[in-house]
Amino acid sequence: MADADPIIALSDVHKIYPDAQRERTVLRGINARFRSGEFVAILGRSGSGKSTLLNLLGGIDLPSRGDILFRGMNISTLDERRRTLFRREHIGFVFQFFNLIPTLTVFENLAFTLDLNGIDRARAQQRVAELLSQLGLSDRADAFPDRLSGGEQQRIAVARAVAHKPSLVLADEPTGNLDRDTEHQVLALLRAMPGRDYTTVIAATHSPEVASCADRILHLQDGALAEAAS
Ligand SMILES: Nc1ncnc2c1ncn2[C@@H]1O[C@H](COP(=O)(O)OP(=O)(O)O)[C@@H](O)[C@H]1O
Ligand SMILES: [Mg+2]
Repeated sequence: MADADPIIALSDVHKIYPDAQRERTVLRGINARFRSGEFVAILGRSGSGKSTLLNLLGGIDLPSRGDILFRGMNISTLDERRRTLFRREHIGFVFQFFNLIPTLTVFENLAFTLDLNGIDRARAQQRVAELLSQLGLSDRADAFPDRLSGGEQQRIAVARAVAHKPSLVLADEPTGNLDRDTEHQVLALLRAMPGRDYTTVIAATHSPEVASCADRILHLQDGALAEAAS
């Protein structure tokens, strides 16, 4: 049930970008609730505000009006530092262009997130080894990202997003830069990452493939979010 204990809930969320000539209202009173463990696809044409919405959910940006409650805590009233800490602990991000750190190896890219969360070295190394083994990428641990295929980079990026066991993974066009076969692999991973039972995944996407494996599809249009008829 969408009403049972949401992990994150938006209430009358507006986002207005100030512009030189006139203000630009991108989100006009969004109300939505996301529950623990569900996989939700957000569809909408380019420029409809999908990235804006994900940035608000992840505490990267603040709404112009309205509240965003994460397990009942209003993240839209947190200062920058607290939002950073919130993000570090609770959120995992996956981006269209992978965004791995080019000067760190695969292993180091994964260990880095855990290090930021204050997880000690021995435990972090164990967790990274476990993740790489689950991905079937253990042999790539010492490679730098530019030596990996796009699909491999994105699988590592998904592993990075879930390494610290966040409650919410926000994926912005996660397969937008992949071919179909690779898309399938990344999607399978996003859907069925071991230990994902309680992790909510919200993916902004153009891809019918991503949408077809979501528990719920929402359409963002004219600043409003509507549930797709199922
Ligand atoms: N920081 C910003 N300042 C001003 N306008 C922005 C900013 N970010 C996004 N926009 C505008 O908001 C609209 C929605 O953008 P975005 O959220 O990136 O849409 P989508 O991800 O669906 O393509 C676009 O018209 C975009 O130009
Ligand atoms: Mg976008």
